[in-house]
Amino acid sequence: MAQIPDHIIDRIRETVDIVELISRYINLKKQGKNFKALCPFHTEKTPSFTVNADKQIFYCFGCGAGGNVFNFLMRYEKITFLEAIQKLSAETGIELPKFREDERKLSEYDQLYRAYQFACDFYHNLLHSKYSQIEPYLKKRQIDPETIKFFKIGYVPDEWDTLYQEILRKKMDLEPFQKAGLILESEKDRQKKYDRFRNRLMFPILNLSGRIIAFGGRDLGGTTETPKYINSPESAVYIKSQVLYGLYFAKEWIRQEGFVIMVEGYMDHLQLFQNDIKNVVATSGTALTSEHAKLIRRYTKEIVLCYDADAAGIQAAVRGGQILFQDNLNVRVIILPENEDPDSFLRKNNKSEFYALLKTARDYFDFRIEQLQKTIGMQDVSQKSKIVEDLIDCLGGHSDPLKQNFYGNIIAEKFNLQESTITEEIRRKSKQIKSREMRYQDNEPDRKAQEKPSLSLVGAWSAEKDLLLILLNHLDEVKNVIFQLVEEQDFLNKEFRHIFTLVKENSSKSKDELTHWLFSILEDERIVSLLTAELFKEISKPERYLNDCILKIKVTRYQTEIDTIKQQLKQLNPSQPEYQAHLHQINSNLSKIHEIRKIFTRK
Ligand code: GTP
Ligand code: MN
Repeated sequence: MAQIPDHIIDRIRETVDIVELISRYINLKKQGKNFKALCPFHTEKTPSFTVNADKQIFYCFGCGAGGNVFNFLMRYEKITFLEAIQKLSAETGIELPKFREDERKLSEYDQLYRAYQFACDFYHNLLHSKYSQIEPYLKKRQIDPETIKFFKIGYVPDEWDTLYQEILRKKMDLEPFQKAGLILESEKDRQKKYDRFRNRLMFPILNLSGRIIAFGGRDLGGTTETPKYINSPESAVYIKSQVLYGLYFAKEWIRQEGFVIMVEGYMDHLQLFQNDIKNVVATSGTALTSEHAKLIRRYTKEIVLCYDADAAGIQAAVRGGQILFQDNLNVRVIILPENEDPDSFLRKNNKSEFYALLKTARDYFDFRIEQLQKTIGMQDVSQKSKIVEDLIDCLGGHSDPLKQNFYGNIIAEKFNLQESTITEEIRRKSKQIKSREMRYQDNEPDRKAQEKPSLSLVGAWSAEKDLLLILLNHLDEVKNVIFQLVEEQDFLNKEFRHIFTLVKENSSKSKDELTHWLFSILEDERIVSLLTAELFKEISKPERYLNDCILKIKVTRYQTEIDTIKQQLKQLNPSQPEYQAHLHQINSNLSKIHEIRKIFTRK
């Protein structure tokens, strides 16, 4: 493995907040001084996955997964330690030293980010140098120069190879641009390269650290030959289900305002922002997923959907809203006047009129009922039961039983049905959905593949582990004593012995540095987990307990040695010289045990 200096690994780890990082993947809730969540590494109903922000570690009391930010990424994304470092290095901008061997593979993330950043600067500069070509469009769409600057919006003219020629001119490596999906090659003649984005207004798409990870491009030709919008393909840094357009710019505003406005389009987002309504994100044409729900939940539980007023927009609000609603977010919907989208509305009206519209936002479930009534009709029983069935399906997937009950009562009242019947139906549906999810999880192949033979722990393993815990948790106070009294050979478990040696050799590091450094270099993730588990425990009287541990470890060691020798004695003849030596060894061990008991046993 290539060597990355410890101080760089430390810096990356200190820059990334474990709570922030893990919240990107799962839904953490504060509980006392820790954060809790349902564990992503095994199936469970009550949260036992725990994150400690002070120590910057996580641990699952259910399945034992644990470690620091790197260990989390390795497990969750199934990547190596080096890849986890690279990912966070690229994201934080803390550079890793260059490696001679296979540099290409080592910094794939970095190369992608660089390609996108280069293209972004290039497109942005083109917008200025060819301003006269794009100006009429910008005027027509009322896009201010400050907005262009703020979002780094770019322009690419109507040519096949604007970016490609620039890459050639600058003598840059083409491969990252191809990986980034910015440069394509002709199927017939692979030598022929051309730009993915042509004759378009370019919207950079940023991750939560503000790095460019993709583009959306708005067609400027106005013909039907080419799609109105095209996006970068997914890549190692761009996973559509994990990105909401504009979230990087909006996140602080969302926290400040206490809610988020979700729109569909880039232009809608831009227009709201430009009108000083900044707690806004765009779904930009992708279907909402529960991953989006998790993403947004980190900032707020209050969502207002503001989609186009046409049939497609309403359909998108029904579908997308359901995902968020079922994830127990508080979803409301606003309906724009006919034929308007948020962008056109704001070009015709001012900010306060938009706020007035916001006030009319209605509860998602209410909106859903109304839409069903409109599309299905309410004349006869078969229509009504169809609506009720649909509503029960929607509630069955809701994650909160209380809300299921509450909304169930609304159905009962509205359709004049018995509450108990509705409740029963919701429960049945809920069960059905859950068992389907369980089946799905059971069939997941890589979960099975992850299972390894269990660790075989021998002797006083629990005392060995506790000794390491005390050592790691109280390093400065106890290290001298421990290193004087305990030697490597006292450890019968080679994993723990290995850790003990590492700690001993690196005991000049600070406590935290040392722990996280261990997490980084220990190859068996189960050992990392064991250690992390220990770091979550507090031991009230470490000095007292330390004695017990040392006693137990030493006695077990000498006793185990005696047992081994006794086995060997069976094979020997008393006349052989080794026989006497063995006996001597046994006696010597017995007196050591006696000594140790005297020293460490306190009455
Ligand atoms: P304008 O027509 O320029 O006002 O764009 P808009 O932002 O209002 O887009 P619209 O409401 O038509 O669509 C909403 C979003 O869906 C867009 O911002 C795009 O992200 C996406 N989208 C729309 N059309 C296409 C398309 O043809 N292809 C793809 N991939 N995405 C599209
Ligand atoms: Mn529009």
